[in-house]
Amino acid sequence: MTDTLRGPRPDTGPMPPPVIRLKAASKVYPGGLTALDGADLSIRQGELLAIVGPSGSGKSTLLNLMGTLDRPSSGSVEVLGHDVAKLSDRRLSAVRARWIGFVFQQFFLSPHLTAIDNVATGLLYHGVGPSRRRRRAAEALEQVGLGHRLGHRPHEMSGGERQRTAIARALVAGPQIVLADEPTGALDSVSGAAVVQLLHDLNAQGTTIAVITHDAQLADTLPRRVRILDGRIREDTAAKAVA
Ligand SMILES: Nc1ncnc2c1ncn2[C@@H]1O[C@H](COP(=O)(O)OP(=O)(O)O)[C@@H](O)[C@H]1O
Ligand SMILES: [Mg+2]
Repeated sequence: MTDTLRGPRPDTGPMPPPVIRLKAASKVYPGGLTALDGADLSIRQGELLAIVGPSGSGKSTLLNLMGTLDRPSSGSVEVLGHDVAKLSDRRLSAVRARWIGFVFQQFFLSPHLTAIDNVATGLLYHGVGPSRRRRRAAEALEQVGLGHRLGHRPHEMSGGERQRTAIARALVAGPQIVLADEPTGALDSVSGAAVVQLLHDLNAQGTTIAVITHDAQLADTLPRRVRILDGRIREDTAAKAVA
């Protein structure tokens, strides 16, 4: 990693600066479907928030914009002070790799890799040599309670263990932001609760976390909730606090 890829250091003022800021961000997919319509959203360092809404309401579209996996059709997205529109694809990838960890409902683990090697892939583009990658992967797996599963392949683990492996991969590079898209969607309630607890623990250590969910019960355990319907943000329990 190089210093030119670092975001601005957090200010020391009373309010931490936003780590993600969307201004009137819209996404129109080819064919003309407006999946996100003028979203204004500001997320501050250290926040833990839920993004809730029914299937098809635009949650994943919003997360993809927040995570710089996609660019808005209009409006702006800033991540750690970088205006996404002003970065080349290469710089954008670098910002994403350095600062953002992703967790998805379907885990996206490589079936042929052991847990430790799956997690180590989270450091592939960080200029870290193979042995250090594996050492840090082992530490990340210990952090998620899987120190005893280092050599297991995905099919040798439960759904909850697979998702915790995916979380270890998301956090192995020390991201400032973790974006989770329906992280408990494929899990039974006990495994899901363990994953939610893990996200709370990560947040307590300072990571900013946004969790997409259509599970109202899960959302109710998080300090801030953003509700989206038909591509529009309809409610934000922290809208006043961050205005
Ligand atoms: N790549 C795409 N191309 C065209 N339409 C899409 C694409 N991705 C999502 N959509 C549409 O955009 C809307 C919002 O989708 P999405 O953001 O995935 O919603 P959610 O995650 O809340 O289920 C849906 O109508 C969906 O069919
Ligand atoms: Mg979705």
